[in-house]
Amino acid sequence: MSTPTPHIDCHAGAFARTVLMPGDPQRAKYIADNFLQDVQQVNSVRGMLGYTGTYQGRRISVMGSGMGMPSIGIYSFELFSFYGVERIIRIGSCGAYSADLDLYDVIIADEAWSESSFARTQGVSDTDVLAATPDLVAELESHAQALHIDYVKTRIHSSDVFYRQNFDDYKTIRDQHGCQAVEMEAFALFANAQATNKQAACVLTVSDSLVTHEATTSDEREKAFTNMMQIALQMAD
Ligand code: HPA
Repeated sequence: MSTPTPHIDCHAGAFARTVLMPGDPQRAKYIADNFLQDVQQVNSVRGMLGYTGTYQGRRISVMGSGMGMPSIGIYSFELFSFYGVERIIRIGSCGAYSADLDLYDVIIADEAWSESSFARTQGVSDTDVLAATPDLVAELESHAQALHIDYVKTRIHSSDVFYRQNFDDYKTIRDQHGCQAVEMEAFALFANAQATNKQAACVLTVSDSLVTHEATTSDEREKAFTNMMQIALQMAD
């Protein structure tokens, strides 16, 4: 059966029950090429590459989300609503708001705070804090522990703006809203999981620090993200 949606063109069963979503479609390709077996490309509309394969014999898909809440909002809604996807785990990078976080630290987000109107506009929620699915958070934590990978579980900030003009705003967001790191997608993903009665979570790697101004190079990032990927790939089912 064919059920192409405006932004994904494949048949209904082409995706696994669980989808990992990095922001960068090239990262989706990298994961498929290096970690999955029996891989099939399942999307290339607008270059937003998606693949389905197996990891240790269990089925899993990986597809880019693009950057920002409107972009992940479109792809995650279509996956949840039209392709039988039950669980989406965002795997991405984040900026540290806390001096306690080092580059390459792994974060499992239990909540996202945002000033975004996404959840309200979607008709899901009027609150500015949305939770990841608790069962998925617990599963990710147990995989991290089994792999002996340290992680920090925290609330994160999902921001609409990367190049914020008032740079020091991050201190207020950290201190008043309890966000230890910033990225740009989780809040919309969590809203869509709620809208469609599905499950979502978010694992991140610290790629830069707003506190120390340290940043990783793209070369370093490729290797350092392996810890996060090992945790997320265990979700294959
Ligand atoms: N801001 C927003 N998103 C990010 C950042 C940042 O500093 N680093 C990685 N993703």
